[in-house]
Amino acid sequence: MNALAATKRNFRLASHILGLDSKLEKSLLIPFREIKVECTIPKDDGTLVSYVGFRIQHDNARGPMKGGIRYHPEVDPDEVNALAQLMTWKTAVADIPYGGAKGGIGCNPMDLTKSELERLTRVFTQKIHDLIGIHTDVPAPDMGTNAQTMAWILDEYSKFHGHSPAVVTGKPIDLGGSLGREAATGLGVVFATEALLADYGVSISKMKFAIQGFGNVGSWAAKFIHDRGGKIVAVSDITGAVENPNGIDIPALLKHKDSTNSLKGFNGGDAMDPNNLLIHECDVLIPCALGGVLNKDNAADVKAKFVIEAANHPTDPEADEILSKKGVVVLPDIYANAGGVTVSYFEWVQNIQGFMWDEEKVNHELEKYMRRAFHEIKAMCSTHGCNLRMGAFTLGVSRVARATLLRGWEA
Ligand SMILES: NC(=O)c1ccc[n+]([C@@H]2O[C@H](COP(=O)([O-])OP(=O)(O)OC[C@H]3O[C@@H](n4cnc5c(N)ncnc54)[C@H](O)[C@@H]3O)[C@@H](O)[C@H]2O)c1
Repeated sequence: MNALAATKRNFRLASHILGLDSKLEKSLLIPFREIKVECTIPKDDGTLVSYVGFRIQHDNARGPMKGGIRYHPEVDPDEVNALAQLMTWKTAVADIPYGGAKGGIGCNPMDLTKSELERLTRVFTQKIHDLIGIHTDVPAPDMGTNAQTMAWILDEYSKFHGHSPAVVTGKPIDLGGSLGREAATGLGVVFATEALLADYGVSISKMKFAIQGFGNVGSWAAKFIHDRGGKIVAVSDITGAVENPNGIDIPALLKHKDSTNSLKGFNGGDAMDPNNLLIHECDVLIPCALGGVLNKDNAADVKAKFVIEAANHPTDPEADEILSKKGVVVLPDIYANAGGVTVSYFEWVQNIQGFMWDEEKVNHELEKYMRRAFHEIKAMCSTHGCNLRMGAFTLGVSRVARATLLRGWEA
């Protein structure tokens, strides 16, 4: 099942549990606006290339739309649509005053030089600058983009609208970025994991972890788990995978990755087949890379007791059912990876206030938001007798539905 069909299915299940009116249900599903642009740039060798860029703005009932921009060869409008919708439910679960959006460019950033990436980002910004804005739609980094990408968007947008640091989040600190933002999604994943494990009477220091993806989210999550005494027994990324049943020295792996850009050749563990990462022996599995990686072909072989969805929609509905039958507890993406958008919200607030918080305050507030959301999800689970995914969906959808009804939606 593709990402959009899976997201719609989860939304409809939540809508059914909540007993939403069918017209309201339909209106909540339809995106506010879908933008598709051609971005043509000269390559460094002078030849012209064109890439398709998307921005899907799903819903703004609770505030400006918010969501990442990814650069990846497999970006397609259906997936961006699903991710935009997930952002609407995610910002509502975190209870931050935003709606949902997502964007992307179908390109392989590894094949582009820095100056080509800058030109591509600037052309994309020129094409969408009228449709984003501080109180309209606030982009952030996602797969294949980073603080530098946000700096280029900020600079290009400001040429049209004047200096506007709050138009993007995940910026470099020197341009108004928030302390703690780079690590926020990974740290949020760890706060979420702590809350879940505490509910089962266990703690990170007693658990073995396997982590797929060692980029922004995966590497920070690994670091914070390692700091808390958790044993990370396997890590993979696009370059390969490494295992060590006694626990990988994560600071050493980070150093190795920094200097070689690869997990290959790390001498603190054995190389393993990256395809086996998801079915590796562990207590907690954390997918931190692509969507749809847990599916009907591998779900039955998952050994973990807990799956923490740090990536967006890593588990498709068939896998969800198989995992549930096996008694595996899945902590859903719209909660587990909400730390990034929560600190993005703190960054936006700081930019609007013109006042910078220290890192301790950022992390403390993040912990409060993550813990509060976990308890609110659990409350929905007990009210409706549902699992954590439906607990999170009913929480998010009910908040957006209430805002929509209060604003009055029958034009
Ligand atoms: N960065 C954020 O703040 C944020 C917030 C919420 C959700 N997410 C989600 O988390 C996931 C990761 O995002 P990120 O920002 O860390 O991206 P990133 O580009 O920094 O890292 C992605 C990682 O996945 C790895 N990867 C790619 N294909 C793989 C494969 N086939 N097998 C194994 N590993 C593979 C890459 O090598 C890299 O280590 C995405 O699903 C993203 O949507 C990110």
